[in-house]
Amino acid sequence: MTDPATTPGSAAQQNIDTSVPHSARIWNYWLGGKDNYPVDEGAGDAYSAAYPGIVTIARSSRAFLRRNITYLVTEAGIDQFLDIGTGLPTVDNTHEVAQRLDPRTRIVYVDHDPMVLAHARALLTSTAEGATAYVDADLSDPDRILTAAAETLDLTRPTALILSNILGHIADYEQARAIVTRLMDGLPSGSYLSINDGSRGTDADYEQAQDAYNETGAVPYFLRPVDQIAAFFEGLELLEPGVVSVPFWRPAPDSPAAEPIGEHGGLARKP
Ligand SMILES: C[S@@+](CC[C@H](N)C(=O)[O-])C[C@H]1O[C@@H](n2cnc3c(N)ncnc32)[C@H](O)[C@@H]1O
Repeated sequence: MTDPATTPGSAAQQNIDTSVPHSARIWNYWLGGKDNYPVDEGAGDAYSAAYPGIVTIARSSRAFLRRNITYLVTEAGIDQFLDIGTGLPTVDNTHEVAQRLDPRTRIVYVDHDPMVLAHARALLTSTAEGATAYVDADLSDPDRILTAAAETLDLTRPTALILSNILGHIADYEQARAIVTRLMDGLPSGSYLSINDGSRGTDADYEQAQDAYNETGAVPYFLRPVDQIAAFFEGLELLEPGVVSVPFWRPAPDSPAAEPIGEHGGLARKP
């Protein structure tokens, strides 16, 4: 099958800027994926040369997301997900984890990167009983996201909102807070909010590497103090163990002892 992202002259290809490193593609590179360009590989290597821990951060964050989804489907009975800032398809995308556990699960993915749009087909391989959809939209327009999501999800029923490594892209903290509040206002009682994001206060080397990266002209991503990440959950019932460094969020019983990393997350229920 022809891949629109790599077909010269295709609409998707024309919108993809291969001259500037992009968050989704660098992240894909660190996760071990192939959907990235030399400019992303170069930026990813430069970053990991300065701060090798970034690969652990990317992979631990993905593992946190898997454990959140597993809890939501198997223990909280959630069968609808709104995953904003999806990123490029990787191993264990949200719908794959969720539909393995409950094939009836419905998932809406949202991202604003044309390369993610070009690869969206790989995200839309739903089970027959469930559904997946992709919305090309910006997080700064939560009303449009909710309206578009309602075409696939029944937003009068509990839904899990996933914001994994995207809020750091919203530079203004108050704006980020307002977006999260607006999105959760659009979901009923019994819905959940899952957030994990890069944090300040745990690892000075990571902070230095990220600050330097933000100076390079790449799309910036801002690390936030843990109390600011925790405050995104205000008004919700935060599940144990609260907002913690992601390896410490309900680790699998057989997982090796972990060190705290500069990536914090939590899961909360809307009362
Ligand atoms: C670091 S990646 C995270 C991917 C995935 N959620 C994960 O945690 O593995 C950030 C993603 O957010 C997307 N993104 C950044 N800012 C956005 C915005 N304002 N609106 C929609 N998507 C955005 C990027 O295109 C990218 O795919």
